[in-house]
Amino acid sequence: MIRIAVFISGSGTNLQSIIDNCENKNIDGQIALVLTNEKAAYGIERAKKHGIPHCIVDHRDFSSREDFEKAILDAVTRHGPIDLICLAGFMRVLTPYFLKNAPCKIINIHPALLPSFPGTHGQQDAFEYGEKFSGCTVHFVDEGVDTGPIIIQAVVPIFSDDTIETLKARILAQEHKIYPQAIRYFAEGRIEIYGRKVFIKDEKKIDEFSHINPRPEAFE
Ligand code: GRF
Repeated sequence: MIRIAVFISGSGTNLQSIIDNCENKNIDGQIALVLTNEKAAYGIERAKKHGIPHCIVDHRDFSSREDFEKAILDAVTRHGPIDLICLAGFMRVLTPYFLKNAPCKIINIHPALLPSFPGTHGQQDAFEYGEKFSGCTVHFVDEGVDTGPIIIQAVVPIFSDDTIETLKARILAQEHKIYPQAIRYFAEGRIEIYGRKVFIKDEKKIDEFSHINPRPEAFE
């Protein structure tokens, strides 16, 4: 069973999906720590409710990024051993110092189809760009912002009558599926990374598909 640390800054719906999938044994893992930089993060209540240790490390209490990251690393060590760190709406960029000193791999969920629309407003940026499809991505964290090797992605359509809220909700529903799945691959030791490419041992193939959005009328 792997021991997981989940870093959050907000509501923690992805945290909840990881909790649920550990509890129902879809993931052979245990959340050993929920860490947040925001005292008011609702995800802390979720951790408490499920008896999961939590820790608040407020970046505003530190004069440098390195000191902030040292405090996070201390918290991780105290709750260790940790096999995987999952960023789930954690709104701080981790520096190379953290990556170098982290005891394990770090993965992140991003609400767009990377490499399009990295950064903090993935859904909004895809929406405003006028994309007809968007989605979400789970990837390894490297030194760039949302640039690491991709583990799994989900695609959703963007309709003409969507609002940013309807699009966010459609993407979030998929996030709750792909994040636990990525963690499950990791827990089962099925992930191999070759350069930028991630291979999943015994991956279940989807059927080949092509989608056109909006649906063509005269050419079906
Ligand atoms: C999600 O949209 C995730 O993709 C992004 O931050 C949001 C976190 O939502 N990185 P929640 O706190 O898990 O509900």
